[in-house]
Amino acid sequence: MAGLIQFHRLGLSFPGAERPVIQGLDLSVAAGEFVAIIGTSGVGKSTLLRVVARLLLPTEGTADVPPVGDGRRLPVAMVFQDARLLPWRSARANVLFGMERLSLPRREAEQRADSLLDRVGLSAHASKWPRQLSGGQRQRVAIARALGVEPDVLLMDEPFGALDAMTREGLQDELAQLHRRDGRTVLFVTHDIEEAIYLADRVVLLEGAPASVGLDIEISIARPRRREDSALQDLAAQIRARLRTPA
Ligand SMILES: Nc1ncnc2c1ncn2[C@@H]1O[C@H](COP(=O)(O)OP(=O)(O)O)[C@@H](O)[C@H]1O
Ligand SMILES: [Mg+2]
Repeated sequence: MAGLIQFHRLGLSFPGAERPVIQGLDLSVAAGEFVAIIGTSGVGKSTLLRVVARLLLPTEGTADVPPVGDGRRLPVAMVFQDARLLPWRSARANVLFGMERLSLPRREAEQRADSLLDRVGLSAHASKWPRQLSGGQRQRVAIARALGVEPDVLLMDEPFGALDAMTREGLQDELAQLHRRDGRTVLFVTHDIEEAIYLADRVVLLEGAPASVGLDIEISIARPRRREDSALQDLAAQIRARLRTPA
């Protein structure tokens, strides 16, 4: 079956750069899959997400990415490491802001926003300003805002990278639950191998300069997963060993 996202010999060069960031990259992601993308800093992970979001066009090969949305939804939505909320808008108004590009009736947008705030556990904080929220709460608002457009693909670029360990684990669990419930396709960039294995159906390692897919590992550990699971830890050790001795 054709993937929802399909890269064939993808190459991406920035104008004026000496060499491409990405070259000869093949990857197919099926609808509903949760794919974690790992790789060293600067390898091209964010660049790959930007190709999926049509913010960058391939300079070689082909990129089949989700088709454009309509007035009720968008093909992709992004969550970044910093929540990027509008400081002068409440949590609820930030979630509504994400939907402004849609032509939803006001009432329906508000219902979506309230139901999403509820799903990320923020109903009681809906009228707070971003500065009154913790880092984890702000990141929950950003996730609710992204889900508001009902994207085919949720793109997450190191979304929990700036959070403390406890908060990070809480948000990982919430994201795992969200994914179990709505089965949305997720591309999740992280430099945390355990996080990748804990969350994903597949872990894809980008490596090389220019970058391509170095490893593509199916994670078949049953859900809900436990961080202490030895299968999970063995896999992490294998991937780490591979990172030390690149092919
Ligand atoms: N707009 C740009 N113009 C030129 N080079 C860029 C641009 N964006 C990213 N790069 C380069 O592309 C490479 C990959 O960047 P990036 O995708 O951000 O890496 P990662 O997210 O894996 O840390 C880096 O060498 C970076 O300097
Ligand atoms: Mg990046």
